[in-house]
Amino acid sequence: MAYSSPYIICIILFVLPYLALAQGIETVSVGSSLTAADKDKATSWYSFFGDFAFGFKKVQDQYLLSIWYENIPDKTVVWFVNGGTTVPAGSKVQLTADHGLDLSDSKGKEFWRSGMLAGTASKAVLNDTGNFMIFNSHSEKLWDSFSNPTDTLLPTQTLGIGGTLYSRLSETNFTKGRFQLRFLDNGNLVLNSRDLLTNYAYYPYYGDVSPSTNDTQGYQIQFSTAGYMYIVKGNDATENLTTKGIILSEAYYHRAILHFDGILVQYYHPRELTKGTKWTPVWQIPENICLDILGMGGSGACGFNNVCRLNDSRRVVCECPESYSLLDLNDKYGSCKTNVSQNCDNNGFQEDVYDFVEISDTNWPLNDYAHLEPISELECKNQCLNDCFCAVAIHREDSCWKKKLPLSYGKKEPSVNGKAFLKFSKVDLSTKNRPNTPRVGDNLPYREKGKGTLILVGSVLLGSSVFVNFVLIIVACFGFFYIYSKKMQHLQPAKSSVETNVRHFTSHELVEATNGFKEELGRGSFGIVYKGVIQMSSSVIVAVKKIDSLIQDGAKEFKTEVNVIAQTHHKNLVRLVGYCEEEEHHLLVYEYMVNGILASLLFSSVKPSWALRNHIALGIARGLAYLHEECSTQIIHCDIKPQNILLDEHYNARISDFGLAKLLMLNQSRTNTGIRGTKGYVAPEWFRNTPVTVKVDVYSYGVLLRNYLLQEKFGDKAILTDWAWDCFRDGRMVDLVENNEEDILSDWERVERFVMVGIWCIQEDPSLRPTMKKVTQMLEGVVDVPDPTCPSPFH
Ligand SMILES: *[C@@H]1O[C@H](CO)[C@@H](O)[C@H](O)[C@H]1NC(C)=O
Ligand SMILES: *[C@@H]1O[C@H](CO)[C@@H](O)[C@H](O)[C@H]1NC(C)=O
Ligand SMILES: *[C@@H]1O[C@H](CO)[C@@H](O)[C@H](O)[C@H]1NC(C)=O
Ligand SMILES: *[C@@H]1O[C@H](CO)[C@@H](O)[C@H](O)[C@H]1NC(C)=O
Ligand SMILES: *[C@@H]1O[C@H](CO)[C@@H](O)[C@H](O)[C@H]1NC(C)=O
Ligand SMILES: *[C@@H]1O[C@H](CO)[C@@H](O)[C@H](O)[C@H]1NC(C)=O
Repeated sequence: MAYSSPYIICIILFVLPYLALAQGIETVSVGSSLTAADKDKATSWYSFFGDFAFGFKKVQDQYLLSIWYENIPDKTVVWFVNGGTTVPAGSKVQLTADHGLDLSDSKGKEFWRSGMLAGTASKAVLNDTGNFMIFNSHSEKLWDSFSNPTDTLLPTQTLGIGGTLYSRLSETNFTKGRFQLRFLDNGNLVLNSRDLLTNYAYYPYYGDVSPSTNDTQGYQIQFSTAGYMYIVKGNDATENLTTKGIILSEAYYHRAILHFDGILVQYYHPRELTKGTKWTPVWQIPENICLDILGMGGSGACGFNNVCRLNDSRRVVCECPESYSLLDLNDKYGSCKTNVSQNCDNNGFQEDVYDFVEISDTNWPLNDYAHLEPISELECKNQCLNDCFCAVAIHREDSCWKKKLPLSYGKKEPSVNGKAFLKFSKVDLSTKNRPNTPRVGDNLPYREKGKGTLILVGSVLLGSSVFVNFVLIIVACFGFFYIYSKKMQHLQPAKSSVETNVRHFTSHELVEATNGFKEELGRGSFGIVYKGVIQMSSSVIVAVKKIDSLIQDGAKEFKTEVNVIAQTHHKNLVRLVGYCEEEEHHLLVYEYMVNGILASLLFSSVKPSWALRNHIALGIARGLAYLHEECSTQIIHCDIKPQNILLDEHYNARISDFGLAKLLMLNQSRTNTGIRGTKGYVAPEWFRNTPVTVKVDVYSYGVLLRNYLLQEKFGDKAILTDWAWDCFRDGRMVDLVENNEEDILSDWERVERFVMVGIWCIQEDPSLRPTMKKVTQMLEGVVDVPDPTCPSPFH
C-alpha cells in the first residue's frame, strides 16, 4: 500500500463534502454540530446519495440553517429554519439528545430548537428525499423537516389537514412573507395573503373556504416520487394538482414552492446536469394572481397603491403607477406613495392644486366609494377633481368610479379596458404660500413709508391663480353640463317639458318636499326660499323658491324663462332642478347650496382667505361671462350682489336668480324704465336714458369686488369708487389694504390686477367697461390690464 489509511480517510473527509459523494456520512450522531462559516471552512451534513445537504447557507452577511439541492448549481433551498432567522458567523447547530437540533450563536445564545416528540434523540439522517429526520434509539422518528415545512414541498412529503406553507418575504429574505398556503379543516387547499403582524388570513385568491361534503373532503396533499401532486379525498378519490399532460418521472428532481409573490409553482429539473439545465415550471396556481386576488382587506399581490402584472415567466411584477413612487425603494413589491393629500380642509381650490395623469388598462377593483352613470370622461375627471376624497377616477363606457386611498388589488391588464385618471398634486400643500410671503415692512410695490396698515380695498375681492387650468376647467364644465343634461333627460323622460330637462312638479309635491314650507332658507328679492327634499334617483336636498309677485304678463312668460334657465349649464351657476306652475303658484326648484350665500361668508367672523376670495371672484366672473356670451339666449342678470351668489360644497361661487329679470322687471326691453337691482350695485345707465346691456352686470360685478373688502373696514363710506380711483392714481394702492394680511401682501401682483380690473368695471361709460370674458382673462392674467381711466369723468 502506497498510502497509509489515516491519510486516505483524511483526504476523503476533506474532499467529500465538495464533491458531494457523501456516501457513508449520512448518519448524524448526538453531539455532532455544524458551524456557520464561509464556504471553505463550512461543513454540512449530506444525504446518502448526496442530492441534498443540510447546513448553513450564506444570506447577505449572515447564515441561514437550511436544506438545499447540493447537485444543482444554484443550491436551491428547500427548507430553512423556522421563521427564516439568520445567524452570525460562528453560530452552531448541534444535535442534542434532549431537544433535537439546537441553534445558538458562539456565545451560547439560543436562536432556535427543533423540539421533538417525547423521547431521547440518538441519531439523525438527511434522507435522499430531502427530509432531515431525528430518531430515537429504536429508530422511531421524533422530528423531521417534512413535518415542519417552510415554503416548499418535495416528493414523498405530505401536507395534512391544518398544514401551512408561508412564502418568503422576498427572493433573498427568508422571513415569513405575505402569502400562505393552507390545507383547511374542510379539506380544501387555499392560498391567501395575510396580515404580517397578526397573521390574520385575508380572503383566499385560490381555493374555497366553504365546507365540502364528507365524501369529497380532502385529507392530505401528496406529492408522488414521479412528481405528481394531488389531494387525497375521503372516498380515495384524488384531485390532481398536476394536471398538465407532461410526463414526469423519477429521472427529475421535483419541487413545489409558494413563491414570495404568492404563486404556487411546481418545477422539475433533470438529475443529470448538462449545460443549461434549469428548473422548468410544470404548473402554477393561480394562473394570474393579479386578477384572482380580490376580497376584503389586504393590499393584493403588491403593496398598497401598487399595480400588479405578470412578466413573461408568469411571475408577478409590481410597478408603481405614474405619479406614485415606492415607499421603500428596496421593496419593489411594497406600497407606493402619492403626493395627493386627503386633507379636505382646503376644499375650495382643487383645480389649482391637482391635476391628473391618465393611464390605461389599470384598475384597483373594490376601492370604489362612488359610482356615477351615465357620465362623460370629462365630467368623471371633474367630479374627482372637486372631491377631496377622490384619488383616482376610472372611466369606462359611460361609467365613472371614484376611488380613495390607499388603493388595493391594483392590476394592469388589457381586459380592464378603461382609463384611469390619477390625481397628483401640482403644489406642495404643506408649504403653500410660505416661501415668498413678505413680512410687513418688506418692500412692497406702492407701499408708502410709515404706513403699517392697509386694507385692500378697491376691487380686491378675490383673485385667483388658476390660469393654467382655466382651459381644463372650462372644458370639464362643458362636459359636466352636457352629461348632466343627458342624465336629467334620462331620469325624467316623461315629466320633462318639451325643450327643457327640468322636472315639472305639482304644488302638492312641493308642499310635501318642503314639509309644508317649513324651513326657510332666506328671503330674496323675488320671494322666500325654503329647504326641501325631493326624490330623484335618490333623495336630493333642494331649495324651493316661491315667487311671490310676477309682473303683469309675467305668468305668460314664466315657462319661456324656465326654458331659458334650464338650458344654462355652468359650474358657476345654480342649477335649476325643476319648477311648478299652477294657477297663481310659481315655484322654482334649485339645487341646494350647502355653504349658503356669499354675503354670509363675507360677514362671518372668520375671514375667508385671499386664495378663497380669489377663487370665488373668478367663479362669479366666469359664470357671468357664460350668461352673457355663451348661452344660446343671452341672459343679463341685472341683480349681481353678494346675496345672489351662493357657495357650493367646494366653495365654488354659484350665481343664482339669473334669468328672472325679465319676469320681474317692469319692462324687459333693453331701454330703460323701471330700475331693477339693488341700491349701490346698479349701474348709472339705469338712471339715464341709455340702453341697458350686459354692461350693467359688469358694473355690479365691479362694485361687488370692491365692496367685499370695503364693507369690512369702512361700512357705508361714500364714494368708494372715487377713493379707490384716487388711491390708484396717486400710487397709494397699498392704502387699500389693511390688516397686514400676509396672504394678500404675498400676492401683490394679483391684488393690483384686481384693483385695476375693478376700476375698469365701474366706469361710468358702459362702453368703456370690459366684457365679462375680458374680465376673466384679465383676472387670470391671460391678458394684460391696461391702466384704468378715472371711473367717473363727470364727477
Ligand atoms: C428515506 O425516507 C423514506 C420514506 O420515509 C424511507 O423509505 C427511506 O428508507 C429513507 N431513506 C433513508 C436512507 O433513511
Ligand atoms: C428580512 O426582512 C425583515 C423584515 O423586513 C428584516 O427585519 C430582516 O433584516 C431582513 N433580513 C435580511 C437578511 O435582509
Ligand atoms: C362528516 O364527518 C364528520 C367527522 O369527520 C362527522 O362528524 C359528520 O357527521 C359527517 N357529516 C356527514 C354529513 O356525514
Ligand atoms: C391524476 O393523475 C394520475 C397520475 O397521472 C392519473 O392516473 C389520474 O387519472 C389523474 N386523475 C385525474 C382526475 O385527472
Ligand atoms: C419574472 O419575474 C421573476 C421573479 O421576479 C424573475 O425571476 C424572472 O426573471 C422574470 N422573468 C422575466 C422574463 O422577466
Ligand atoms: C407630485 O407628483 C407629480 C408626479 O410625480 C409631480 O409631477 C409633481 O411635481 C409632484 N408635486 C409636488 C408638489 O411635488
